[in-house]
Amino acid sequence: MDIELHIARRLCPALELPPDQTGTLAGALVRPPTPAHGDLALPCFGFARSLRRSPQQIAASLAGKLEPDEVIAGAEAAGPYLNIRLNRPAVTASVLGDVLADPGAYGRRDLGRGGVVVLDFSAPNIAKPFHFGHLRSTNLGAILGRLLEHMGYRVFRKNYLGDWGTQFGFVIYAWQRWGDEWALEKGAIDYLVSLYIRAYQESEGDPGVREQARELFRRLEQGDPDIRALWARFRELSLAGFMDTYRRLGVSFDSYDGEAAINPQVRPIIERFQRAGVAVQSEGALVVEVSDVIGREIAPCMLQKSDGASTYAARDCAEALDRFERHGFVANIYVASRQEDHFAQVFAALGKLAEAEGWRENWAQRCENISFGFVRGMSTRKGEAVWLSDVLDEARDRARRVRTQKAAQNPQGFPELLGADLDEVSEAVGQAALLYFDVSSRRMSDISFDWNTVLQFEGNTGPYLQYTHARIGGIFRKTGQVASGDLAEIAPLLENEEEWQLVLHLRAYADTLERACVHREPFELANYLYALCSLVNTFYNRHKVLGTGPGLERARLALLGATQAVLAGGLRLLGIRPLDRM
Ligand code: ARG
Repeated sequence: MDIELHIARRLCPALELPPDQTGTLAGALVRPPTPAHGDLALPCFGFARSLRRSPQQIAASLAGKLEPDEVIAGAEAAGPYLNIRLNRPAVTASVLGDVLADPGAYGRRDLGRGGVVVLDFSAPNIAKPFHFGHLRSTNLGAILGRLLEHMGYRVFRKNYLGDWGTQFGFVIYAWQRWGDEWALEKGAIDYLVSLYIRAYQESEGDPGVREQARELFRRLEQGDPDIRALWARFRELSLAGFMDTYRRLGVSFDSYDGEAAINPQVRPIIERFQRAGVAVQSEGALVVEVSDVIGREIAPCMLQKSDGASTYAARDCAEALDRFERHGFVANIYVASRQEDHFAQVFAALGKLAEAEGWRENWAQRCENISFGFVRGMSTRKGEAVWLSDVLDEARDRARRVRTQKAAQNPQGFPELLGADLDEVSEAVGQAALLYFDVSSRRMSDISFDWNTVLQFEGNTGPYLQYTHARIGGIFRKTGQVASGDLAEIAPLLENEEEWQLVLHLRAYADTLERACVHREPFELANYLYALCSLVNTFYNRHKVLGTGPGLERARLALLGATQAVLAGGLRLLGIRPLDRM
């Protein structure tokens, strides 16, 4: 049942609007700031001109005309607003019915109509540390991917590995001097980074080292088979290390082709830039001026350095073209922070090429950089260098300690978990704590990380959301029932305010997901789920469920069942495991 559409249809004639305006009018209905103002409101300012009356007069006359029906319980004017109260039993039955009939489909919409979104996220650099920026990119990207799919897009997940560039000259130089097979096999990522750092430090005292590293990278670019084989091995071992982490996070990609794989297509696109007259020589380098299109003073997009080497930007230009040719994307999204200028330059340069070559579809306009703020205060026992697998271990171990303490204080509240179960729950809770932290603020805000805060079982944390899910699970374990019953019969029994606010919140799920998707803002979903948990906990603290008599008990269980289903679905979209006991 589309409540907004129904109300809009009823209001259209009174507002002298043609029927084709119904959808727009439905979109104009808002949630009033407090429940005392009703369930939905129509601000009447926008109709004053055409109706030649004040918004107050319009609201008053609408209130007089809107008779109660199967959806509307009543309407009152409050100044320029028309406040509408909904028919609670009907709306409750419809919302619970929608959720319980097919929980997995609840909240889905088809915004995308099957269009392909290429989603570039995580993208760590081989032989450079996987840092917190990469973890945030991994989490935000994974969530956006699931949200986009929920909204009807097809998503191609691309892990554009940083597997090319002069740093490999340093690593190969260091390997040839100090390489240790055993250390490499034992932990490739850590070891390659330490090699890189060692060579880099040495080059600071001895410029000859830099020269040798450059030469080695040149040989790699020219395809020297020995150097190439070494590079391939480093890449493979690093990727295997990343894969462990991705597996733990439940993240996967459709392609791991990174900067190296696109390399052969870089020369051809640079030539296109030249032929189209878009790229110009500047102090021996080849650049595209972009300040004019971006509208602010910004360095040009450099495609080729003065020594003839191609650049990160040139590779991204070639890569974007390749993505369009393969996928015909409706959006090409890069989840990466602190590269705003880089992406602005690349997109603007491609835009200029589009214009100069007269592309039929200017897909440069479909490229977006989704950036995010900085995380402060993240460090582990081992000190400043933060390794993702260490953080996941630490999260698991801390979660286990918190849980064990809680269970000791409150044995009834926590079922006994031992051995493998405790390991599994601890891993899931630790991961939820880390992951939820990333989405508990808007993505552009800088955030401060603190282990004690993120692992709390109360407050705006991942473990709190999981705990709420498990708490509802506990109730169903006690009754041994699943949520069921004839909704038309039981919905009228749900008549208190806590129940109604919960129903209204459940109803807002799809709108929330759409907003999160359109604004590329997973926080919207996190915030929604937090509010859902607060509402259901308030309800449960104030009202009994079990033993309230056959009808009311069934009605309240249905409400809890629907809440749990939406919570589980939302947690899964966030990449957090809904737990049945913890
Ligand atoms: N490897 C880069 C880094 O670690 C991120 C890559 C983002 N994607 C891209 N197509 N440039 O900073």
